[in-house]
Amino acid sequence: MAEYAVELHNVWYSHNGSNHILKDIDLKVKRGALLALIGPSGSGKTTLLKIICRLIRPCSGSISIRGSNGDLERHEVGYIPQQLGLVRGLTALENVLVGAHSRIGFAGTLLGVFPEKEIELAMKYLDMAGIAGKADKKVYTLSGGERQRVAIARALMQEPEIILADEFVSNLDIVTAKEIMDMMKKIKEKDTTLVIATHDISLARDYCDMTVIIKNGVKIDEICSYELDYDRVRDIFT
Ligand SMILES: Nc1ncnc2c1ncn2[C@@H]1O[C@H](COP(=O)(O)OP(=O)(O)OP(=O)(O)O)[C@@H](O)[C@H]1O
Ligand SMILES: [Mg+2]
Repeated sequence: MAEYAVELHNVWYSHNGSNHILKDIDLKVKRGALLALIGPSGSGKTTLLKIICRLIRPCSGSISIRGSNGDLERHEVGYIPQQLGLVRGLTALENVLVGAHSRIGFAGTLLGVFPEKEIELAMKYLDMAGIAGKADKKVYTLSGGERQRVAIARALMQEPEIILADEFVSNLDIVTAKEIMDMMKKIKEKDTTLVIATHDISLARDYCDMTVIIKNGVKIDEICSYELDYDRVRDIFT
């Protein structure tokens, strides 16, 4: 089994062929690790996550997921986008069931026909995410923290080996943010790799094994998260 869940080598990315947004990124994430990607707004964190889950392709460089650089099975990587990507008019349970589409096919997902065992599984993940009590509520009626829990349950429903979470808890108050991070650490399978993009230095320091610092599309540092402090990163955010 590959030691690294994610390996990027010399990755460059541009939307228009010039003005590179990511410049020569090398990144290795160990299987089962929790990695924070920190950097100022516009530094390229979201772009990097989209490259890892193959929503966009780099101009050059190589990407390997669990030792394979072939096509990715869609369910191997669970992606929680910055805006969560939930369907507001569907219930929490229906949103989580969308995470099962690789097992039941798009037709089943579209028609809303779900095997009983998938419904049971979706309820299990809603329960793990602490939101089973609102399974039948439409997402637009839920608070920001509750939506975040639904998005986590949907990602878990894919049973992915890697979860990428963009600005994971940044819209939440500090108590809810900590609660969700604690829960995520607890329910994460040992081998599941978690990469989160964040501006929050204390979140990275308190919860992540490693932190990668990115500025203007360049990876400028990679450190054990416990070494993170404001002095070390002050220049990056100014
Ligand atoms: N579709 C696009 N077309 C052109 N430029 C883009 C596009 N999407 C993003 N960019 C630019 O790419 C750069 C990196 O954006 P990205 O969203 O990756 O940053 P980020 O680090 O995630 O920022 P934030 O912390 O604000 O979420 C920014 O300068 C942004 O304006
Ligand atoms: Mg972003």
